[in-house]
Amino acid sequence: MDGGEKMKVELPKAFRELLTVRARYKLFYGGRAGGKSFAFADALLTQATSRKLLIACVREVQNSIKDSVYKLIADRIAFYGLGEYRLYEDRIVNRKNQSKFIFKGIMDHNAQNIKSLEGVDICWCEEAQKISERAWQILDPTIRKPGAEIWLSMNREEEADPVWKALARHPDSDTVIRKVNYYDNPYCPENMRRLAARCKAENYDEYLHVWEGEPRLLAGDHLIGRQEVFRAMQNKPEGDVRTAPLIAGVDVARFGDDKTVFCLRQGRQVLSFKAFQKLDVVQAAHRVGAMIAAEHPARVCIDVGGVGAGVYDVLAADGFAEYIVPVNFGERAELAERYANRRAEMWARAAAWLSSPLPVSLPDIPGLAEDLTAPLKTFDSLGRLQLEPKADIKKRLGRSPDLGDALALTFAVQNEAYLLKGSRGGEYVDDAIYV
Ligand SMILES: Nc1ncnc2c1ncn2[C@@H]1O[C@H](COP(=O)(O)OP(=O)(O)OP(=O)(O)O)[C@@H](O)[C@H]1O
Ligand SMILES: [Mg+2]
Repeated sequence: MDGGEKMKVELPKAFRELLTVRARYKLFYGGRAGGKSFAFADALLTQATSRKLLIACVREVQNSIKDSVYKLIADRIAFYGLGEYRLYEDRIVNRKNQSKFIFKGIMDHNAQNIKSLEGVDICWCEEAQKISERAWQILDPTIRKPGAEIWLSMNREEEADPVWKALARHPDSDTVIRKVNYYDNPYCPENMRRLAARCKAENYDEYLHVWEGEPRLLAGDHLIGRQEVFRAMQNKPEGDVRTAPLIAGVDVARFGDDKTVFCLRQGRQVLSFKAFQKLDVVQAAHRVGAMIAAEHPARVCIDVGGVGAGVYDVLAADGFAEYIVPVNFGERAELAERYANRRAEMWARAAAWLSSPLPVSLPDIPGLAEDLTAPLKTFDSLGRLQLEPKADIKKRLGRSPDLGDALALTFAVQNEAYLLKGSRGGEYVDDAIYV
């Protein structure tokens, strides 16, 4: 009988899309005990029980079947009492519908081995952070049956994990990317939760990597630490901030794949980020104009290093001259004896703001923590703080840290007369924390 059988599984909610959505790539990442391995095994068994499928479980290298997920799948078959499956030495076969699980190392391939993957319906890459660029280049085009899916489970190792770079940096509509951690796993054992809590208290960076699936930070001195960013994201905006002026930062896209980002900050609270792709100079200027009309910021600090200069000119011609402040990242800092340039100075103010003893808040949006923690700091020959060049960050991150730049721009102005009045009336009282 081909098909028709139903197997009842309780797949944790976070993994539902494994079964409910059609997509070429499904990448689930996160830290330890997120339930990834169990959920993938259960979802695959559900599929293989209901219709005839060829399923390949692959990893970079498989020295023996013990390296594979064979045992996990066999355990789940036993747990569910699925009598129709037969365990062979190197494969598992459903005797009712002929579904088959095979287990392969991508790089142990000889031509014959690769061929065996061509008819695969679903390919599971477990520990996908370990898959090399070369292996991915072999695997991806080999899974070529129409409608075939590649499922990936991973705990990110570095920002530049090859599979992450290939799939998650600019995901398309055929790609599902989901983060799943121990707190999303309803079956997470109590001792694992305890270990996670202890690690969180003792070493936050380690915790973020091991338990939250964040890539390791590059060794080196980062200007902004993760702890401050995550703390700010957990703080809810509190009460009345009308006494502080509303300042907008506008980071204008320099290249086709960068984004134009607006950041609105009022004192200790970032109210919003808005990102736009592929705006020309005039469109970008009109968006800024509309934002000024809607939000009434006291000042809008615009990056005029590249095309932003054109945006500034259009806004000035449109009558917004009194609101807009041109900022050139490369120009001399206000405190030129401490900072190598304006960019370093503004980012340093953002860093000081984030580590302020008074609570500050940031929206918890994807990519923001990565952008803010990306730049490394060094000191120039005069002992002034300088930031890692944008081009280097971009190479590593796969994009510019546009969200971070937009926030930094909100610190371009301070201690000026209009700030003391407050943009929406009222006295401006907490200037001191920006310095
Ligand atoms: N469906 C389930 N039924 C029972 N227990 C489960 C189930 N799913 C997960 N668990 C429990 O949660 C633990 C963690 O799940 P799993 O090993 O799948 O997580 P993971 O995300 O693959 O983590 P790691 O990165 O550590 O491999 C398992 O060891 C098991 O104890
Ligand atoms: Mg696992």
